[in-house]
Amino acid sequence: MNIGIFDSGIGGMSILHQAIVTLPNEKYIFYADTDHVPYGTKSKQEVVGFVDGVMQFMLAHECKAVVIACNTATAVAAAIMREKYDIPIIGIEPAVKLAVKESDGKRILVVATPLTVKENKLKELVERVDDDHLVDLHPLPQLVSFAERGEFVSDAVSDYLTKELSKFNLDEYSELVLGCTHFNYFKDTFKRLLPKDVNIVDGNTGTVNQLKRVLEGRGELAIHKESVVPQVRYFESGREILEASKLEHIERLHNRLEIMRKI
Ligand code: DGL
Repeated sequence: MNIGIFDSGIGGMSILHQAIVTLPNEKYIFYADTDHVPYGTKSKQEVVGFVDGVMQFMLAHECKAVVIACNTATAVAAAIMREKYDIPIIGIEPAVKLAVKESDGKRILVVATPLTVKENKLKELVERVDDDHLVDLHPLPQLVSFAERGEFVSDAVSDYLTKELSKFNLDEYSELVLGCTHFNYFKDTFKRLLPKDVNIVDGNTGTVNQLKRVLEGRGELAIHKESVVPQVRYFESGREILEASKLEHIERLHNRLEIMRKI
């Protein structure tokens, strides 16, 4: 049986990347809904429809669990999908609780897509954990476009982030929460632009640990193999990626994600 992981695009590969590190014996299906990327600037109804389509694909491809590797899709569709489908669904959410715990009274900036920022799910999460009103939410939609065209380090990326971050007095902050999986590709630029003592927090490890707990609880973790070669099939909106040039591009993304994972 497979573990299905999906996002609107390449952002969710940061979860896949962490999953391969933590659970190397599993077989994965990674689905990027490239026909519909970006999700974050669309309506809730549209995104729920896209996610439903991906769920049906995952069920038709022998998945024992599905990871929504997209904060936006989790915010608008996870609860609806859990009602509808009888399979474990693990959804990434901005790691606000962890950031509040680590912040030691300083402010926390959560960056995400416009739809995630607008949705009640994130607002309710903040209300639950942010007793001292230290959390600010801010959308960064253009980072998704930069990521999808493979532009991770450039003057345009730096200029965009410099302009957006200048809206906050960063000396008052101790945590930056990456509330969109696409933003993982830009950790080096964030690190360079933020004051030294600001931590960058992502939800990748937390989400994969939750996946592991769920599979363990159901007795469905893959049995240990002698030699471990990651087994992943990649799909773009239902079409399997088999071309060597595209698989090489995916390899390069994993290389970048491995560097970003250590920041
Ligand atoms: N990577 C997605 C997220 O975590 C969404 C990006 C988009 O399609 O707008 O929210």
